[in-house]
Amino acid sequence: MIIVVLAAGKSTRFKSSKHKALHDLLGKKIIQRVSQALEKLNPAKTIYVLGHQLNEVRAELKNKEDFVEQKEQLGTGHALLTALEGIYQKSPEKLQGILVTCVDTPLLTSQTLEKLIESTKTNKAKIGLLTTQINNPNDYGRIIRDGQKVKAIVEEKDASESQKVIKEINAGVYYFDLPIEEVLQGLKSLKNNNQQKEYYLTDMIEWANQAGHTVTALCAEDSSEVLGINNRADLAEAIEQMSQRRIKELQSEGVTFVNPNSTLVAPEAVIGQDTIVYPNCIILGNTEIGSNCTVGPNSFLQDSKVGNNSSIKYSHLLEAKIGNNCSVGPFANLRPGTKLLDEASVGDFVEIKNTTIASGSKVPHLSYIGDAEINEEVNIGAGTITANYNAITGEKGKTIIGKGVKVGSNSVLVAPVKIADGCMVAAGTVVAEDVYDKDSLIIARNELRVKKGWVKEKSKNLSSNT
Ligand code: UD1
Ligand code: CA
Repeated sequence: MIIVVLAAGKSTRFKSSKHKALHDLLGKKIIQRVSQALEKLNPAKTIYVLGHQLNEVRAELKNKEDFVEQKEQLGTGHALLTALEGIYQKSPEKLQGILVTCVDTPLLTSQTLEKLIESTKTNKAKIGLLTTQINNPNDYGRIIRDGQKVKAIVEEKDASESQKVIKEINAGVYYFDLPIEEVLQGLKSLKNNNQQKEYYLTDMIEWANQAGHTVTALCAEDSSEVLGINNRADLAEAIEQMSQRRIKELQSEGVTFVNPNSTLVAPEAVIGQDTIVYPNCIILGNTEIGSNCTVGPNSFLQDSKVGNNSSIKYSHLLEAKIGNNCSVGPFANLRPGTKLLDEASVGDFVEIKNTTIASGSKVPHLSYIGDAEINEEVNIGAGTITANYNAITGEKGKTIIGKGVKVGSNSVLVAPVKIADGCMVAAGTVVAEDVYDKDSLIIARNELRVKKGWVKEKSKNLSSNT
């Protein structure tokens, strides 16, 4: 079987300077979502029909040669014709079985596509198409049936009033159980005498009927799978549907979503049993959260890992790794390369990047920790900053803090710098050189002067002068 994905269109209704297939759908581009589902079908070949922004879309293909250019977008029928002519020229040997789908229907699952192919074969039909029933069929082609057989598809713009009330719609997915030459013949016979002056792929149904071929349809139960993204409202709907699909799966595996409608979860995200996800969380990419955790409210996690029994509150995690029994937030910003080992904690208004924080260590408040290695049982006082950037050389330096070190509030650790185990850094100290001796007090502070009665004296002088 070969697969043809139609993706050449200008996406006028999407109103974007970027091809709609390149827009984000829960952390992956729409085209990636489509190709992921298609890969599972193990086709002999998958060909993308490209035109509008060809180079940009082509860059997203796994195999950069798997495309055919449709120079002028003359309609979906013309798009398939261009693809099949391209394929036929390269390999004129007998090819049978063509699955056609569109790049703008990313919610379709490989299971449904397999079912479509199977049902077409079982029904001994030459064309099998995917349909569904929806209450608001606007914009979709309507299915004209005669019992089990499909006689035609009428586009919204060409439909009569009585056809417009039909609720069974065309998903834009077709399986042709015919040799490629025959499909080519049909496509060449298409006319563009319709409202949009386009060569409609949907007119192949009438062609097949006239040629004496049976056309059947598989009506998808879950109509959300068929959602075609034509405009921004459709994109929002697709994001919502894809996320809700994953949330339902996770609920069945024992995850609590306190307010599922306010939460977005990517299909590839994994969450363990008895974890509670509070409202307004966005969980994207290959994020893995263990069991018995609490996440949120208001947290964003992308490509991050969280162990078991950890808590993440009002925080932003990107490519961060959190161990077991850890606590993050509220209001922590954990950037790529952040690693919290078991029992570590990071509190409010703390930014961390490219840093390992070992077991039992804490960065509780108001700190920036970058390019650092913080060993076990360390406490970083409020307002501590690792000055990791040398503004002259442009280099980033490393801060290494030994076991059990206590860093006093408002200290600056000027990297590269090392502090031996067990040391104490006095509050307000700037540490700009390595300290090798364990258990030392590190203090850089001017002598404190207390001038007794000074305030009163000053105030008195001031009032006697006026
Ligand atoms: C199409 C179907 C409609 C169906 C709907 C399902 C036709 C005529 N209509 O309508 O029956 O209900 O999909 O979502 O087929 N494309 C090309 N080259 C072209 C034109 C389009 O590659 O010359 C591609 C587009 O990039 C898109 C796909 O074909 O990925 C479908 O085109 P689109 O304009 O979105 O068709 P719809 O109006 O949605
Ligand atoms: Ca469409």
